[in-house]
Amino acid sequence: MKRSFSLVHVLLVLAFFSHIAWAVKGSSHCKQTHAAEIRPHSVTITEFGAVGDGVTLNTKAFQNAIFYLNSFADKGGAKLFVPAGRWLTGSFDLISHLTLWLDKDAVILGSKNSGDWPVVDPLPSYGRGRELPGGRHRSLIYGRNLTDVIITGDNGTIDGQGSVWWSWFRSKTLNYTRPHLVELMNSTGVVISNLTFLNSPFWTIHPVYCSHVIVQNVTILAPLDSPNTDGIDPDSSDDVCIEDCYISTGDDLIAIKSGWDEYGISFARPSTNIIIHRLTGHNRNGSGIAIGSEMSGGVSEVYAENLYFFNSSTAIIIKTARGRGGYVRNIYISNVTLAGVDTALRFNSNFSQHPDEFYDPNALPVIERITVKDVIGDNIKVAGLLKGIEGDSFHHVCLLNITLNVTTESPWNCSFIQGYSALVSPETCEPLRESIYPKHYSDCYLLANHLWSSAHHLAKEMMPDIRS
Ligand SMILES: *[C@@H]1O[C@H](CO)[C@@H](O)[C@H](O)[C@H]1NC(C)=O
Ligand SMILES: *[C@@H]1O[C@H](CO)[C@@H](O)[C@H](O)[C@H]1NC(C)=O
Ligand SMILES: *[C@@H]1O[C@H](CO)[C@@H](O)[C@H](O)[C@H]1NC(C)=O
Ligand SMILES: *[C@@H]1O[C@H](CO)[C@@H](O)[C@H](O)[C@H]1NC(C)=O
Ligand SMILES: *[C@@H]1O[C@H](CO)[C@@H](O)[C@H](O)[C@H]1NC(C)=O
Ligand SMILES: *[C@@H]1O[C@H](CO)[C@@H](O)[C@H](O)[C@H]1NC(C)=O
Ligand SMILES: *[C@@H]1O[C@H](CO)[C@@H](O)[C@H](O)[C@H]1NC(C)=O
Ligand SMILES: *[C@@H]1O[C@H](CO)[C@@H](O)[C@H](O)[C@H]1NC(C)=O
Ligand SMILES: *[C@@H]1O[C@H](CO)[C@@H](O)[C@H](O)[C@H]1NC(C)=O
Ligand SMILES: *[C@@H]1O[C@H](CO)[C@@H](O)[C@H](O)[C@H]1NC(C)=O
Ligand SMILES: *[C@@H]1O[C@H](CO)[C@@H](O)[C@H](O)[C@H]1NC(C)=O
Ligand SMILES: *[C@@H]1O[C@H](CO)[C@@H](O)[C@H](O)[C@H]1NC(C)=O
Repeated sequence: MKRSFSLVHVLLVLAFFSHIAWAVKGSSHCKQTHAAEIRPHSVTITEFGAVGDGVTLNTKAFQNAIFYLNSFADKGGAKLFVPAGRWLTGSFDLISHLTLWLDKDAVILGSKNSGDWPVVDPLPSYGRGRELPGGRHRSLIYGRNLTDVIITGDNGTIDGQGSVWWSWFRSKTLNYTRPHLVELMNSTGVVISNLTFLNSPFWTIHPVYCSHVIVQNVTILAPLDSPNTDGIDPDSSDDVCIEDCYISTGDDLIAIKSGWDEYGISFARPSTNIIIHRLTGHNRNGSGIAIGSEMSGGVSEVYAENLYFFNSSTAIIIKTARGRGGYVRNIYISNVTLAGVDTALRFNSNFSQHPDEFYDPNALPVIERITVKDVIGDNIKVAGLLKGIEGDSFHHVCLLNITLNVTTESPWNCSFIQGYSALVSPETCEPLRESIYPKHYSDCYLLANHLWSSAHHLAKEMMPDIRS
């Protein structure tokens, strides 16, 4: 077959190999929509009778301080300062225009008495508690219907003392679903930064039905064998930016969700425009970045870049099942470094937990336009375990510039997926072997723009009189 290369094709290839830097949405920084102005009023938790001895229960002190600060909400808001000390507390509620500030060596400790974590209604998009039918324990730090909330400090610590909850979970003596460490619900303008989060009973940071959320420069730790201690789980939330975090937990470091089966489908609130930059971490029984398994309200426009996962079970995973419905589309993952990871890329379509028997097994998820590029990995067991669903469409999966040192015989195992690839080693599975270039880059999420704009830019530099 005779091939002819147009100028554009030559430039495309040139642009590709010259690795022109390109940042998603032109910027790599989380943008604060609400100015984090200095709060004009500030109180210290000790003014409300708190004792930082690690023994005295301070729930009332936190509640009273926040009740008092409510009167400053329309005067620029206020700051609650938590000094060095060990401040034991049960669950408490935040308010709008509040900054909760934890000084260096300040530790907020979650009570080990489950009665200090009241039971609240299940989320409408889940229909029941995630673990058990009925309500769920409220998170240690909780907020609902808020705007402009900041949880920050000088690397102070919020420690859920989750080990009691993990034992109740293992001995099956829980009465309700375990609580999160921090949950913000139906809130906008949330910033969580410059802190350390330890030992959450369940998922650690859970923004649900939120907009404009920033999680920046936080450390999240829990034992590698602790059950379901996800790091950050944006759930039916939009405009979420997660940057410069270190996470090491018993489950997924970040899991993007949007509700469960028929409840998520009818609530219909997607997670969209989720940006993740500079994430480092590891796990033994989870993934670096997960989408799902609860994704019934849809997940789209996820941009994750500059990721480093080491000694982990899975790096990137999409989890779904028959009955979930919803969609996962327009996902862009780039510049991933892996060391000692069992499975680099995984689609698991058989998450058979359902909220009840009323889910619709014919509600099939749509998985499409997933781009994974610029991945390098050493000591990887399996490159890709990509299982779709028979009779369903997992399509336009695009793999570009992936080099993995794989230690097992069959590096790729794919079924019921469709897509394209280029520069993947070891050679990818048959359904993805068709080349992205020159014909299919526009079927791939964000590859077309990338190369077209780069090529165009280069063309103009090389030949200033080229016609646009
Ligand atoms: C969300 O919060 C706003 C106020 O901020 C309130 O008007 C609205 O009813 C809330 N919606 C839900 C579902 O809680
Ligand atoms: C949040 O808004 C919902 C809907 O308006 C309301 O039912 C609920 O009581 C509010 N919760 C709080 C804590 O303000
Ligand atoms: C990260 O947080 C620490 C305190 O926890 C602070 O000293 C450091 O400056 C922060 N870095 C950035 C980039 O914000
Ligand atoms: C904050 O504290 C944690 C836990 O002590 C530590 O691992 C982390 O490096 C500290 N972060 C900063 C930015 O100092
Ligand atoms: C569950 O309920 C029983 C009976 O009310 C109670 O004794 C037990 O402490 C509860 N367990 C938890 C983990 O809250
Ligand atoms: C984190 O701390 C650093 C150093 O104090 C500060 O410059 C930065 O603004 C803080 N970041 C946020 C998001 O609060
Ligand atoms: C891994 O997590 C799954 C699901 O949460 C659990 O069933 C299993 O026991 C965990 N395995 C290990 C080794 O912790
Ligand atoms: C790729 O990510 C690593 C962190 O894992 C970072 O050090 C490096 O600068 C990133 N490269 C580019 C081109 O952004
Ligand atoms: C990963 O685990 C191996 C073997 O346990 C260890 O030698 C190595 O230091 C770990 N890597 C990192 C980056 O911690
Ligand atoms: C899905 O998992 C169930 C049990 O969890 C198993 O019976 C079934 O065979 C699996 N289906 C596929 C297609 O792997
Ligand atoms: C391929 O990906 C690696 C790892 O991110 C990166 O260093 C390299 O520059 C990429 N190569 C091309 C041709 O873009
Ligand atoms: C992969 O393994 C080979 C030998 O097994 C080694 O020479 C090479 O440096 C490794 N590549 C990477 C990217 O670590």
